[in-house]
Amino acid sequence: MTTLASASAPAKIILLGEHAVVYGHPAIAVPVDSLRATAYVSAGAGDKLRIVASSADQSAPDKLEADLLDEALTALADLLMDRLPGSLSGFTVQIESPIPIASGLGSGAAVAAAITRALGEALGQPLDNAALNDLVYEAEKIHHGNPSGIDNTVVVYEQPVYFVRNRPIEQIQISQPFEIIIADTGQRALTRVAVGAVRKLYDEQPGRIQPLLEKIGTMVAMARGAIERGDLKKLGQLMTHDHEFLRELTISSPELDRLVDAAVSAGALGAKLSGGGRGGNMIALVTPDTRSAVRDALETAGATQIFATTVGIES
Ligand code: PMV
Repeated sequence: MTTLASASAPAKIILLGEHAVVYGHPAIAVPVDSLRATAYVSAGAGDKLRIVASSADQSAPDKLEADLLDEALTALADLLMDRLPGSLSGFTVQIESPIPIASGLGSGAAVAAAITRALGEALGQPLDNAALNDLVYEAEKIHHGNPSGIDNTVVVYEQPVYFVRNRPIEQIQISQPFEIIIADTGQRALTRVAVGAVRKLYDEQPGRIQPLLEKIGTMVAMARGAIERGDLKKLGQLMTHDHEFLRELTISSPELDRLVDAAVSAGALGAKLSGGGRGGNMIALVTPDTRSAVRDALETAGATQIFATTVGIES
């Protein structure tokens, strides 16, 4: 089938501030340029928009992944049929994504952004980033319930962001590029379950949880300063400290803790879970000197996949 249009969008990691961002505190997120979802639109037959997924990593998705993907793509197709200006009847979208799903890397937002952007192109009405961001946020709402909006923002704008809910995004100046290793526990976990658990804790123990979220927000502001000054040692310390707070929020897991400990023991400047937590991925801040020891340590500690990204280099 002839491809009428194609588009891609990156995965994302949260350097600091997940969960607290849901409550209006800041968070810092960056795109992972090398890990991208790509959508290919072709003309087909029938009166429906078809969205088909094929995993680029060749590993057969387990049942949870297959069900999640199916549910997500059907809901997205309905949303886009309703909201895009033009008829999508008969279009088929093939999506290829190596981004692990339900694991904190923003796979849902990346897939939705790639599909929506490609369909806009195929209709001859390319969407600008603001319109695309609104639509991908709607798609996020279907699954997350109450998303802060950070995932859609970073995958659509493809820049490091200092994000506060319902406020215009702020860019971060990166004075010294830095390397992050991303390691997957292999455990899949739904963000909405983790967000719901924090909400329950917040409602039951506001006197303990509110100050904790505030402290995370303060650390995010300090991390922004550290990134802008190029103080990577400080950034690393703040990341590891943030992981401790996330543990208190019950958002870590034994596997995440094991990977974080392994990275720090192997010389990472800092490490933490990233995204919804309770499984999924963790991140470690490394230097050229520690990169390979940290990678080895993560593999030994059971990481099922390892990715790397450099923040602050134009792609
Ligand atoms: O798990 P992810 O990649 O969807 O990241 C979610 C980040 C949270 O702060 C936990 C939720 C949100 O909506 O911001």
